[in-house]
Amino acid sequence: MRKVNYGVDAPNIMRNLILLGMIIAIAGLKLPLLSPNIILTIISYLMVVFGTVFYLLGMAMCAYSLKGKYRTRDLMLSKINWQGNEMVLDIGTGQGLLMNGAAKHLTTGKSVGIDIWSSKDLSDNSINKTLANAELEGVKDKINIRNEDARSLTFADNSFDVVLSLLCIHNIEPKADQEKACFEIARVLKPNGIALIGDYVPTTAYAKAFAKAGLIVKSSKPYFTTAYALMWIVEVTKA
Ligand SMILES: C[S@@+](CC[C@H](N)C(=O)[O-])C[C@H]1O[C@@H](n2cnc3c(N)ncnc32)[C@H](O)[C@@H]1O
Repeated sequence: MRKVNYGVDAPNIMRNLILLGMIIAIAGLKLPLLSPNIILTIISYLMVVFGTVFYLLGMAMCAYSLKGKYRTRDLMLSKINWQGNEMVLDIGTGQGLLMNGAAKHLTTGKSVGIDIWSSKDLSDNSINKTLANAELEGVKDKINIRNEDARSLTFADNSFDVVLSLLCIHNIEPKADQEKACFEIARVLKPNGIALIGDYVPTTAYAKAFAKAGLIVKSSKPYFTTAYALMWIVEVTKA
């Protein structure tokens, strides 16, 4: 029987951090055995420290994909005062984690997920997987999936009561285009709507872009213990 699967985020980076961290730390431990002297001891110490940091970052990414992402989704969705009739947009929905989670709060509303389905950003990333997950979650009639770029959304101004995005915007290159994505979120959000954007980098730059676009920034702060990894969430509303 098929099971719901929301994928592993940045799988190559996670694997490389864990492997590289182990290799560097073990090599660092062995180094002083070659010829014990002060220079080699210092290099060895630094290798063990850096190797351990890489390894722990990789393991944190693993913990995030296994548990933290679900806790982060639940936290983000708990910040919305659901009525059931909302129009929701999930930017960079991947396999539908937030889109499906939001859909479960809806009665007459719709949850729309957009993505370009990049496989380097999420394992097994495809529109078919996203559709299959929606079906398995029992929300297929409440969702709508589209292949769109966050920088140039085709939706009309003021279309959505809720805009969500998790671990998407940092992927946008060049970095200057991340501001474009924030402006698009501001444009499609309805007055009194709420946008919640989570990312593993500090959300200060996104908050600045939202303020520049005329949104009210309610908070922009870290949630490491929720995510079991680096995670900041910015919450904004439109006057
Ligand atoms: C790390 S995954 C996170 C997926 C999902 N939000 C989750 O939390 O499970 C990042 C997603 O952003 C998408 N993405 C990257 N750049 C994008 C862009 N310019 N427009 C839309 N989606 C994008 C990727 O294809 C990928 O599905």
